[in-house]
Amino acid sequence: MADRPLFVMTDPCCFDVSYRINPWMKPETWTAEQTAAACAASETLRGALEAEGARVETIGAVKGLPDLVFPANAAVVLDRKVLLARFRYPERQGEEAVFRAVFHRLKARGLVDEIHDLPDGLFHEGAGDAIWDRDRQLFWAGFGPRSSRGALPVLRKTFGQEIVPLELASDRFYHLDTCFCPLAGGKVLYYPPAFSPEAQATILSRVAEADRIVASDEEAAAFCVNAVNLGERVVMARPPQSLREKLQAHGYTVVAVDLDPFILSGGAAYCMTLRLDRASAPAASVLA
Ligand code: ARG
Repeated sequence: MADRPLFVMTDPCCFDVSYRINPWMKPETWTAEQTAAACAASETLRGALEAEGARVETIGAVKGLPDLVFPANAAVVLDRKVLLARFRYPERQGEEAVFRAVFHRLKARGLVDEIHDLPDGLFHEGAGDAIWDRDRQLFWAGFGPRSSRGALPVLRKTFGQEIVPLELASDRFYHLDTCFCPLAGGKVLYYPPAFSPEAQATILSRVAEADRIVASDEEAAAFCVNAVNLGERVVMARPPQSLREKLQAHGYTVVAVDLDPFILSGGAAYCMTLRLDRASAPAASVLA
């Protein structure tokens, strides 16, 4: 029971696209029907995670904060430590106080231990830009469009883990989780054009060729890289057949969910969730 994956998701009833802080968002085309479709889509994602054995805690919606449905951006969480996010755009900064209160409630319930803040003047958008790689025991850390490079040493100090910086170079793939997804077993699904040349070289040097699964333009634009991985299962927005086959060839099975309303805001499965129970492996004992 205790080792079932634990996620948070947000009630989508106040979700819409009413401002534009990334190129996917088109407030002028948003309709009330899409909010209804979003509620159904969020429920389907929750059901898919639960069907994989996960537990899901729900955060209440807040009117005027539509992007609260993307709790991956709320914080980085590892080993029951929480580093709260600071958002780049004023449109999302109101979420900070909401998520802070959420984490204090989770702490009171014993689900997390420590809650840390970023120093002033730095931005960091949580697990959207800091992805834990369980096989390599490190954080892949995106920076540029949203998170500050200067926040990376704070991650290092807070969690005591290796941080691998990856500069994001495209305004369409503005969080690391839109273009990079480490999978159980050490493979990595990623979209090279989203990265600076230096970041591409870092990935090539750290991930063996046989472990690289390269997403096409079409697969990345369908937000399939923004996936939740549980063992050999990969829960994602509906993929092109090409990606199903690619992942299958590497031993993974796709669980597809229709997340179209959220893609219109520039997000999908991974960022609609935040995993709370990730733990690093204990450091090898000097006596072992
Ligand atoms: N509309 C949101 C934004 O631009 C979408 C966030 C998606 N989150 C993510 N981690 N990819 O901030």
